[in-house]
Amino acid sequence: MNLNKNFFNLEESYLFSNVAKKVANFKEENPNADIIKLGIGDVTLPLCTAVVEELQKAVLEMGKKESFRGYGPEQGYDFLREKVKGYYKEKGVDLEVEEIFISDGAKSDIANILDIFDKDNSVLIPDPVYPVYVDTNVMAGRKIEYLCANKENNFLPLPTKDLRGSIIYLCSPNNPTGSVYDREQLKQWVDFAIENSAVILFDAAYESFIEDEELPRSIFEIDGAKKCAIEFCSFSKMAGFTGTRCGYTVVPMSLEFGGVKLNRLWLRRQTTKFNGVPYIVQRGAAAVFSKEGMEQIKENLNYYKENARIISKALEELGIYYTGGKNSPYIWLKCPNDMGSWEFFDYLLKEANVVGTPGSGFGKNGEGFFRLTAFGDRQNTIEAVRRISDLSF
Ligand code: MLT
Repeated sequence: MNLNKNFFNLEESYLFSNVAKKVANFKEENPNADIIKLGIGDVTLPLCTAVVEELQKAVLEMGKKESFRGYGPEQGYDFLREKVKGYYKEKGVDLEVEEIFISDGAKSDIANILDIFDKDNSVLIPDPVYPVYVDTNVMAGRKIEYLCANKENNFLPLPTKDLRGSIIYLCSPNNPTGSVYDREQLKQWVDFAIENSAVILFDAAYESFIEDEELPRSIFEIDGAKKCAIEFCSFSKMAGFTGTRCGYTVVPMSLEFGGVKLNRLWLRRQTTKFNGVPYIVQRGAAAVFSKEGMEQIKENLNYYKENARIISKALEELGIYYTGGKNSPYIWLKCPNDMGSWEFFDYLLKEANVVGTPGSGFGKNGEGFFRLTAFGDRQNTIEAVRRISDLSF
């Protein structure tokens, strides 16, 4: 038996599992501690009524012979793809239904898309970054070059003349830093990708948090992007689907290398390896785009945005440097007193019983930083902020 030895090059375990393990140990030692979790970016508000009603209807349909459905199209039902198409249209982006692939979330597709690229491709990944981009490339044994994201470039690295790479990962609004690329900056990446025959894997999972109308919510708002980018998006953060699972990936028809359309390769990959998202879930996801659905998810998003404002305001009052918190559910802060990321994690857990995510878990450049999420419950967020403000740094 020859195992995939690349797995030995991974960190011992996934970042959020490490955090969960540490918190579980602390809880065991301190059973009375009232722990507030602002670590993993998991939503706390329930699914909105419009979605729940549609899910219920779909469950009933599945229980009747005349409306029961078995295998669906691997790339998703057209009723949902059409809705996604309409959502893009509102952003000024014209898509064909065939360019939209429904998935069980952005994470799986971001990982699985690597199937269509040769191992022998150089990869550019920002540091700090959502660990899935790095881990999936390490598993495949690909060489990674890191793009330095730091305070100096507002955690928004840009292409430089000497840079080379075929697969480029961008996430905006960014996880973990909350920074958002503007149009001009994204244009630089699109031009770079076209010049270098590279593909941009654009993670737009947090686009629904963008309030500033000047900021792009899709890379396809940028001229030329359909020739060089694939976009991944999700209902998780937009509509509370973290436990329900649904997302979509856009692979433009005009994206091709050596005369081969990536859309065709992805379709081939999906039809072979994926049996689609459950009909019931897709019906629920389609309800997100109804008039009521949109209003209801907006209310939920506003709730989280207000949490982000509460956290940001407290950090400002404490004089702590941070990015994000606006146009993003993440707040990325400099650990006080030059503490290391895990040192601050332990300190905050012990002294305030508040859980965040250590910045170093997102890469070397994250050392000395810390991520808080705005996806918590309001009262808990207020209480966490009060406890943090009471600490003497
Ligand atoms: C995070 O906390 O970074 C996210 O919740 C992880 C994810 O979306 O998979």
